[in-house]
Amino acid sequence: MDKIVVHGGERLHGSIKMSGSKNSALPILFATLLTNDKCKMTNVPDLADIKTTIDFLNFIGKKTSKKLNIVIAEESSKLNHIAPYDLVRKMRASVLVMGPLLARLGKVDVSLPGGCAIGARPIDIHLEAFKKMGATIELKEGYIKIFAEKGLTGADIEFRFASVGATENVLLASVLAKGTTRIINAAKEPEIQDLAVVLNEMGAKVSGAGTAIITIEGVESLSGFCHSIISDRIETATYMIATAMTKGNVTLTNVQPEHLQIVIDKLIESGLEIKISNNEINIKWVKPLKPINIKTEIYPGFPTDIQAQWMALMCLIQGNSIVEETVFENRFLHVCELQRLGANIKIDGKNVYITGVDNLSGAPVMVSDLRAGAALVLAGLCANGKTEISRIYHLDRGYDSLEKKFSKLGANIRRIKE
Ligand code: UD1
Repeated sequence: MDKIVVHGGERLHGSIKMSGSKNSALPILFATLLTNDKCKMTNVPDLADIKTTIDFLNFIGKKTSKKLNIVIAEESSKLNHIAPYDLVRKMRASVLVMGPLLARLGKVDVSLPGGCAIGARPIDIHLEAFKKMGATIELKEGYIKIFAEKGLTGADIEFRFASVGATENVLLASVLAKGTTRIINAAKEPEIQDLAVVLNEMGAKVSGAGTAIITIEGVESLSGFCHSIISDRIETATYMIATAMTKGNVTLTNVQPEHLQIVIDKLIESGLEIKISNNEINIKWVKPLKPINIKTEIYPGFPTDIQAQWMALMCLIQGNSIVEETVFENRFLHVCELQRLGANIKIDGKNVYITGVDNLSGAPVMVSDLRAGAALVLAGLCANGKTEISRIYHLDRGYDSLEKKFSKLGANIRRIKE
């Protein structure tokens, strides 16, 4: 298994281009199952999860290929309604196959999902919604079997929690349902809005995406689309925090700063200088930063996907801070590894209490999930000596060319192939 080796101490400087959003590209790739027409996506990041999804779509019956950052998807054969364990276990977002296949075929069998080790992550909200739309559900031999042989019917669906994946799945299912569907307490993330833009370009009638109530009027059929995926706000925030931690001066291009307002506000509050112009952000360390508390929340609150990186930053700022996680349970697996590097942090339920230290010192560490891995890379960039990071396949799921981008900014980082 590959490892990443970092020698800390370099201040990041220069300019790099941010990639397209993983969490936007995935549901849009699954949306191609809704049509026979050709679909083209640009600004698609180069990631293991994208490759997994392309293999998945091809298994289901699409003919999908990726060249550089462009993906083309065409129908090649009759669609298959079974999503087997081997494909689903690699990536939790595979459950997004349910909505489009139910809409197209009236049935889908999906193996129960795997994914990140960050809590229970059930899919009850997705399944309750499909039931409300007239589907029947059975659990058999590790598979969820969903049937709606006479088609799905629009309904008012109120989520008990604004789940991103459930909002996407219901959007994907309802665009071809009979009648009108309303998702109440829908997720408002930019990735939901990007999916709605694509669905409307395909001929769907979706309104209200980005608000708590999304209305979908079902249509008979959908056509192809050509769409440029939005910029990855989580990747951008990761490099912003890395710049803050290494006392650097970095410009990030191909970004959508409006999707990152809360992170930008918190970094400015901490003392960082941030300049925004069109699709660029310049981050400059000018003075010692202040500790700032954060609480993760659904969008537009502080993203849970930036919690681990924020914690790494707070570990090196003089004073005390608190990180509160409210979206996922068990999303503090990075705490033990940060402690191995010398961080002064302790967990108490949903809170982590941090007291900044002067220095971290390099050590071998292990990645437990995607964003925990990013936090360890950031800590390694500042730690004295060598930090050797293993199980980096988690990082490859979500960070396009991570070590190349950091190298370009002057970091001493390399991948060791084993
Ligand atoms: C998506 C993102 C992930 C991000 C998360 C929250 C993708 C591919 N992944 O994940 O990076 O961290 O949003 O912003 O876009 N829940 C239930 N029942 C359900 C569904 C969810 O209890 O049926 C709970 C989960 O266990 C979790 C919370 O709701 O505690 C948030 O989950 P959700 O918003 O669904 O996240 P994902 O779509 O899995």
